[in-house]
Amino acid sequence: MLSSLSIEEDYWSDKMIDKYKAWYELIKLGNIGSLRKDINDFFKGNILNIMGEEGVFDYLVEEREFEEISKQFNYTDTEFLNELLSVLVNDGVIAMKNNRYIVDTIEHERKLPSIFTEAVIDIWNIHAQFIPNRLRGDFMEFTGGFNLFNWDDALTNRMYGQIRKSAFAYSGVLKKSGKFLDVGCGTGYGTAAIWSYYYENGKINDNGSCIEIIGIDNDKQLLNIAIDEFSSMVKKQLKDKPTENILNNCVPEFLEGNAEQIPFDDNTFDFVYASQVLHWTDAKQAMTEMMRVTKPGGIIFGTQNLYPNANPYNELHFKTVRGAGGFFSKNDMYRWAKEIGVKKIKNATPITVFKIIK
Ligand SMILES: C[S@@+](CC[C@H](N)C(=O)[O-])C[C@H]1O[C@@H](n2cnc3c(N)ncnc32)[C@H](O)[C@@H]1O
Repeated sequence: MLSSLSIEEDYWSDKMIDKYKAWYELIKLGNIGSLRKDINDFFKGNILNIMGEEGVFDYLVEEREFEEISKQFNYTDTEFLNELLSVLVNDGVIAMKNNRYIVDTIEHERKLPSIFTEAVIDIWNIHAQFIPNRLRGDFMEFTGGFNLFNWDDALTNRMYGQIRKSAFAYSGVLKKSGKFLDVGCGTGYGTAAIWSYYYENGKINDNGSCIEIIGIDNDKQLLNIAIDEFSSMVKKQLKDKPTENILNNCVPEFLEGNAEQIPFDDNTFDFVYASQVLHWTDAKQAMTEMMRVTKPGGIIFGTQNLYPNANPYNELHFKTVRGAGGFFSKNDMYRWAKEIGVKKIKNATPITVFKIIK
């Protein structure tokens, strides 16, 4: 029963030690403030470049109405155009006068954030290049048009690694054993990190102790990487290499499955985890499903960039993908949590690690 529980109150009574643990992992990436600035400059630069190449800023040297812009460039997806223009107006790149858009001069330097590898940059460049198509009503598929090697490389990146570790530390979940679901497991590198953690702590061993871990993703190509490369991923992450016996008998199961329609019965899992996934989905529906498959008292946790800390220029990039609902705010997340009957929810850090108790 939630009626007497103030979820916000619970957030503020969060234990400081958990927050420290979450921060401790994140700051290994460097100065989070300046990293966030560089990331913003990167995504902003991409948008300014691509819209500049389209000729939009030259066109806006004179005041233009929304409909004029839409017609001039054949931008038929007016909802997305409105989002894009709103981001530019809110950031002061273009101005709005009497419901007309106008631009003065644009000065911006696109930076390459130190933690972005070539693969990460490549992925986001492809999204950026697709934005004009998206404005004309077209969509990408998640891995459509991408070199899969880039996704594999990106998700093994130190940035994703530290973000995951921050969530593991904050939730305290890996200290406990239980049936585990990794929603949106992608190439399975995070799943391998979870498995490796349990292995290092003796919870998976040659005496027949296993932990049931299942990874689901709706992208078959990424899942195939997870299946094919799991053994090599854990070997890469572990000093003390697991025996072939363990690797043959106690590996996660990777299945095709949708976050908005999780293919398991109610109350199946002790732990349900989603890292950097919800914004690719209809987040409220995905949270509802994660809640449904979690056992009463079980824990849902993960990472999710939330407004006001989330980056709107980044959001324009990934919203080129069909089904990506986009970033949302902490208030949205807490409101949905309340609506779907969550007992407790808390979060920490600007990247946002969260923990929910059913
Ligand atoms: C940024 S990746 C994160 C992967 C993984 N959680 C990690 O930390 O490495 C996002 C993942 O969400 C998956 N995804 C996107 N929409 C999904 C949906 N509706 N249902 C299940 N998975 C989805 C993508 O295929 C991709 O693997």
